[in-house]
Amino acid sequence: MQEQTALPRFSVPQEELDKQAQYAAMVESVLLSRFPVRRPRAFVHTYGCQGNVADGEKIKGILESVGYDLTEEIDESDLVLYNTCAIREHAQDRVFGNVGKRKAWKEADRSRILALCGCMMQQEYVAEKIKKSYPYVDLVFGTHVIHKLPEFLYRCLCSGKRVFDLSGGEGNIVEGLPVHRDGTFKAWVPIMYGCNNFCTYCIVPYTRGRERSRRPEDILAEVRELAENGTKEIMLLGQNVNSYGKIKAGNIGYCYKDEADGLDFAGLLAEVDKVEGIERIRFMTSHPKDLSDDLIECFDGRLAHLCRQIHLPVQSGSDRILKKMNRVYDRERYLERVAKLREVCPEIAITTDIIVGFPGETEEDFEDTIDLVKRVRYDSAFTFLYSIRKGTPAAEYPDQVPEAVKHERFDRLIEVIHGIQEEKSVWYQDRVLPVLVEGPSRTNKRMLTGRTESGRVVDFPGDPSLIGRIIDVRITKAQTFSNYGEPVV
Ligand code: SAH
Ligand code: SF4
Ligand code: F3S
Repeated sequence: MQEQTALPRFSVPQEELDKQAQYAAMVESVLLSRFPVRRPRAFVHTYGCQGNVADGEKIKGILESVGYDLTEEIDESDLVLYNTCAIREHAQDRVFGNVGKRKAWKEADRSRILALCGCMMQQEYVAEKIKKSYPYVDLVFGTHVIHKLPEFLYRCLCSGKRVFDLSGGEGNIVEGLPVHRDGTFKAWVPIMYGCNNFCTYCIVPYTRGRERSRRPEDILAEVRELAENGTKEIMLLGQNVNSYGKIKAGNIGYCYKDEADGLDFAGLLAEVDKVEGIERIRFMTSHPKDLSDDLIECFDGRLAHLCRQIHLPVQSGSDRILKKMNRVYDRERYLERVAKLREVCPEIAITTDIIVGFPGETEEDFEDTIDLVKRVRYDSAFTFLYSIRKGTPAAEYPDQVPEAVKHERFDRLIEVIHGIQEEKSVWYQDRVLPVLVEGPSRTNKRMLTGRTESGRVVDFPGDPSLIGRIIDVRITKAQTFSNYGEPVV
């Protein structure tokens, strides 16, 4: 019998992690000598998706581990780090604007560190622009080398030279980094990194490299630890969680282990569901092309903790545009998947992402999108104006849609979505629903706020001791964007 060749597993070698631990200790002692009276302060801001937020939590964890206190006061800080996003032009412009505003802060004290990382930096032209036009930026690193932050800091602190590291196109999986969790009861858990789908509008496959899955045992160990520390809700993260663990051929994708004993996403969900103490499980994002019957059946009630909610980005309702986007499914297949989801779980909440004004989108294509939205009747939808991303195929398409047309369609789409949401609110009126109490309400500090299983935010009066618990709340006023209720005792 032919012996199976082991597939490469993408983990950073232990020697590298040991080296970083040494750097961390050296940074700590440098900071101790430079800040004899108070601890140094770091301000970290993350843009973009939850995957980037999860990276930001690791960055904060590393900074704390070397001696920084985290602060919200940017002007009072000794280190500012922007963890950037490249998904749309607008996201990038905001970062350039904010970096521009840091010039005076940096010049007031040159020992301060200004650092940039995240997806934007993985684009060569951006890194070049920072190098040339923003000479006061000290440190620039990409999405694949977060674990090397102690070394970068050491070099910044001790050499006074600028540090750029955008290496490692395929990325690494690093387990065991310190994490500063922003939430107490809710946590992000990345299960995979990268993307292999190359939708023609999207920059992510270029900034995040190929798909890599974490080993189930590492994910489960993290979830168990979170549960022990009081986490009630977890969000499993990946650009396409439905292809979790699948073996990809050749050198474009990697797997954690043999197919024979590997878990697929439905299998992983079943394992996560067994972890005691986790009361709610959500995941994102699901690519419709890979939404299997097995995964849909997970919503039939067999998994006690899986929230009856799914984010299923459609992007467009036109077959012609879906094809040009390289989404691989057509509207019929998408609607069939939605019908199957509702057959298995009639009350499931479905949300989506839609791009308006993809190159070549005609009025007819756009009307197909409106029609699909009306058929699916989404609980909510994130809508985006198509934004040209340099280096993606769609950026080169000749038939770009004029801005005015994009905006006009965008407004029409929003109106339809809001109308559906308003109608859907009726379902919530006077219903008693379990709500995970998250904390004081943002708009009225004397009220509490929480979320229903479907993801609706509800404000209600209650004692702060309820925070972190799942309680029954009667919805007394259901509206499109805000809901009010009364706890049921
Ligand atoms: N992996 C996820 C999406 C991640 S990006 C998926 O495939 O569903 C989040 C959303 O940003 C996408 O769903 C898409 O709607 C939007 N987006 C991505 N690239 C864009 C671009 N160039 N212009 C406008 N919106 C874009
Ligand atoms: Fe981008 Fe498509 Fe990958 Fe989502 S699946 S991250 S939209 S390339
Ligand atoms: Fe933005 Fe990168 Fe996420 S481009 S959306 S931060 S993967």
